[in-house]
Amino acid sequence: MLIKTANRLDGIGEYYFSQKLREIDTLNKAGKDILNLGIGSPDLPPHPEVIRVLQDTAAQPNVHAYQSYKGSPVLRKAVVTWYQQWYGVSLDPETEILPLIGSKEGIMHICMTYLNDGDEALIPNPGYPTYSSAVKLAGARPVPYTLSEEHNWQPDLDALAQSDLSKVKLMWVNYPHMPTGQLPSASFFERLIAFAQKHNILICHDNPYSFILNEQPVSLLSIPGAKEVVLELNSLSKSSNMAGWRVGMLAAAKERIDEVLRFKSNMDSGMFLPVQLAAAKALELGKDWYDSINTIYAERRTKVFEILDLLNCSYATGQVGMFVWAKIPATFTDGFALSDKVLYEASVFITPGGIFGDAGNGYIRVSLCGSIERFEEAIQRIKTRLVK
Ligand SMILES: Cc1ncc(COP(=O)(O)O)c(C=O)c1O
Repeated sequence: MLIKTANRLDGIGEYYFSQKLREIDTLNKAGKDILNLGIGSPDLPPHPEVIRVLQDTAAQPNVHAYQSYKGSPVLRKAVVTWYQQWYGVSLDPETEILPLIGSKEGIMHICMTYLNDGDEALIPNPGYPTYSSAVKLAGARPVPYTLSEEHNWQPDLDALAQSDLSKVKLMWVNYPHMPTGQLPSASFFERLIAFAQKHNILICHDNPYSFILNEQPVSLLSIPGAKEVVLELNSLSKSSNMAGWRVGMLAAAKERIDEVLRFKSNMDSGMFLPVQLAAAKALELGKDWYDSINTIYAERRTKVFEILDLLNCSYATGQVGMFVWAKIPATFTDGFALSDKVLYEASVFITPGGIFGDAGNGYIRVSLCGSIERFEEAIQRIKTRLVK
């Protein structure tokens, strides 16, 4: 039978990691035992109390029905308390929060809610590849804005203001930035809100990394006037070690939440209540929890710096988030060449920066999601197996 896939899939390839994981799997089957330092999926479990809430509530008879499309009031309240406590942002639990099945689905929902054929959305280069695919799947055109080390990986808003923004409806922004680990400056966030107001653009801020190796989490919603123009996505995947649980959230003005819910309520039928109650427990954890995971990430980061030194890469030591972003030495044409050499000679996989956009071509990204022993093993392999 010959059924052609929908046109909206044209130009949408398989997600880079799903392809690469297949190659790594094939190498493993051939006996290679590849150390994967690529993917940012926390390897440690959530807090034991979080798991206890899931277990206890799942054992009850009355928690198995469909749930509200807007999420459990317990989770919405926990999100609001968390936003107030950590970001100093006041939100209404009834109207300004929408729990999500991971923030990734929120990226798609926002694009489907606002973008028509022919519309444009600004996306960061380098940046999380899902922004561009979601914009394309929604029928619109992603317009990359370049980030560079010289400009602290922040967009040049003056240059953007000179470009034709007439078709731009959304701008995707993500700080702390993945993959570069750049923190936002307060003045940049203020200028961003003014830019959005002036050009009538919705800013979609994706904020899953603010607790990782960062003492001062910041929400874009904390900037005066932000609620008029900002939708903020957040997630428990990284900060609560709950990536596989699929819990995220959207925080925005009531009108925006209602608009996104018009789309989302046609896509899914709510989340399993015990997962929502356990997520609420995770959001109640105090500074001890974040300190405990950050102590581990900081220790791992020193090992990753060692790996990068061995590869003659340079990097900013003050970057935050779950990865280390590093500039490759001039002896390699790009990060893909370095990544391939390390994969085929030392059986260690490191992500080439170019998968995040061509402005990442001269870089690589190493994930902190692995035990110290794995990083030590990677150091040994690179020292002993890499052909000079
Ligand atoms: C920048 C960025 N946004 C969103 C996500 C997706 O997070 P979630 O697990 O909440 O869907 C990731 C995951 O890697 C990410 O790096």
